[in-house]
Amino acid sequence: MYRTHTCGELRASHDSETVTLSGWVHRRRDHGELIFIDLRDRYGLTQIVFDPALNKEAHALAETVRSEFVLKVTGKVWVRPAGLENKELATGAIEVRITEIEILNKAKTPPFEIDQDKEVNEELRLKYRYLDLRKERMKNNLVFRHKFIKRLRDLMDERGFCEVETPMLMKGTPEGSREFIVPARLYPGTFYVLPQSPQQLKQLLMVSGMDKYFQIARCFRDEDSRGDRQPEFTQLDLEMSFVEEEDVMSLNEEVLTILLKELVPEKEIMQTPFPRLTWHDAMSRFGTDKPDLRFGMEIRDVTELVKGCDFKVFADAAAKGYVKCLTVEGGAEFSRKEIDDMTELAKVYGAKGLAYIQMEADGPKAPIAKFFKPEELEALVKAAEAKTGDIIFFSASDSFEVACNALGYVRLACGDRFKLRDPKKLALLWVTDFPLFEYSEAEKRLASAHHPFTAPKDDQIAQLDTDPKNVLAKAYDIAMNGSEIGGGSIRIHSPIVQEKIFKTLGISDVEIGRRFGHILEAFEYGAPPHGGIALGLDRILMLLRDEPNIREVIAFPKDSKAKDLLTGAPSSLPDETLKEMHVKCVEE
Ligand code: AMO
Ligand code: AMP
Repeated sequence: MYRTHTCGELRASHDSETVTLSGWVHRRRDHGELIFIDLRDRYGLTQIVFDPALNKEAHALAETVRSEFVLKVTGKVWVRPAGLENKELATGAIEVRITEIEILNKAKTPPFEIDQDKEVNEELRLKYRYLDLRKERMKNNLVFRHKFIKRLRDLMDERGFCEVETPMLMKGTPEGSREFIVPARLYPGTFYVLPQSPQQLKQLLMVSGMDKYFQIARCFRDEDSRGDRQPEFTQLDLEMSFVEEEDVMSLNEEVLTILLKELVPEKEIMQTPFPRLTWHDAMSRFGTDKPDLRFGMEIRDVTELVKGCDFKVFADAAAKGYVKCLTVEGGAEFSRKEIDDMTELAKVYGAKGLAYIQMEADGPKAPIAKFFKPEELEALVKAAEAKTGDIIFFSASDSFEVACNALGYVRLACGDRFKLRDPKKLALLWVTDFPLFEYSEAEKRLASAHHPFTAPKDDQIAQLDTDPKNVLAKAYDIAMNGSEIGGGSIRIHSPIVQEKIFKTLGISDVEIGRRFGHILEAFEYGAPPHGGIALGLDRILMLLRDEPNIREVIAFPKDSKAKDLLTGAPSSLPDETLKEMHVKCVEE
């Protein structure tokens, strides 16, 4: 028997019991005659003590032990006298005085220290992920992830949802990303595609009459990794029949509220029911479709005010586009460098520049002030509701999205600068009424804003033929603290409308048949009205654990360049394997 108790279990009530523990050497301290070791397993740490007076051989062996050795020890629980307890440890009321020790395994010196919370290079952490996962923080993240998903499954089950597994080897489903492909050995020149989401299959499950489906689903997208993206990630994917937007949103809101209250009671949900903003309002007021509502600092429109003014940048934009402003309380103290950094940030998001007015004690100061008459300047300051000590940033653009977006990012940077993004708070909201299409500059054509199965608003179906760009979708996103944590929609269940959408997207009949023939055919056999959503679980977990990126809540993630540093994937394959798979590699 390797153990009678875990390393997190023993208390004063176990006084004088003989126990056996197994675990890793977390820390070893030699105090002259006595050797103290903190023995670690998943459940915690227990201090064990070797005293030559108790057992000379055991003490001698303990002298040879190093960090991360795996031990099995037997001894007697000893309650520490008052004042000598370790309040930091759950087992801090006791120690175990060892009479027998067995070294189950030795360990090389780890490439980084497990017992300390020092910053370690991430490449090293990912290469030795199994050691990284020995750390308290990472272990807690994984256990939290398990508990969160288990409770989520139960909540879905209690609400009548049935979990159905959908295949990984399938045909592509469009979600706007590049796909990972798998060559099919049995059919030379053909490929399976790993799903970007179970989208089509969950819709087919609705045609099958499943009514309420969910899945903790793995999704694959060959896109550039970022802090909140992985090529492989997990969704709570769900679909429901005979529902409207409201039904899907209220179910998710209920489940999420229960989960958050139970699993992160230390955090405060700022507002229930979750506020709702239309896409247009979210963009105009916060410059993004996933606003961080933990703080105010709203964007304002001053297009009308600057029409015909002497500052050409504003006047030109106001004539055919938008001039927006953002007032930042306390921003008059920003240094030249800080303003330059904000300007660079705005430029990353398409702005041509970032004009500003600093509200000094003796009046507004700005390089652009010379272009405005005193009364014009006064009117701008008034519209911006700026007072002494503030700064007003302006963005001017022909494009609504660019004008808003640039200030949206400046707003977040200012939120960070003034510590307004409190991690103890959870601000959730729904964003609704998305445009059905977005114009792709690169391809000079309309693309689905969400995916091509999203239904247009009922009263706008006719508009698909005349003015598709302004058609709104029955789509909704959910955002938390400035992150998009989920998105979904009511789907098209009429094959006629579905074909109309494919046509608007410029997909040819042949292409429609090839890529979507199966779903159009299915819809001809009695598809119920249906809709659903998918929540990005990794992103939610990252926010709940206050982690800076989603890699920290995934056991074995890819690095920021989509590599698995632990196993070395992706890697080349032997020629025979490639031949068998009918794959030929060409030099680029
Ligand atoms: P969507 O593409 O919006 O919708 O994805 C839903 C949610 O999944 C998360 N997410 C990601 N998380 C980590 N890494 C990624 N690469 C990544 N991509 C997306 C986001 C996002 O909000 N089938 C539809 C859902 C539906 O219509 O029901 C879909 O997948 O949090
Ligand atoms: P310029 O006349 O180009 O030197 O610009 C004067 C100021 O206007 C600078 O602070 C620029 O950052 C700012 N600016 C330039 N273009 C824009 C724009 N499209 N929107 C907002 N500010 C701008």
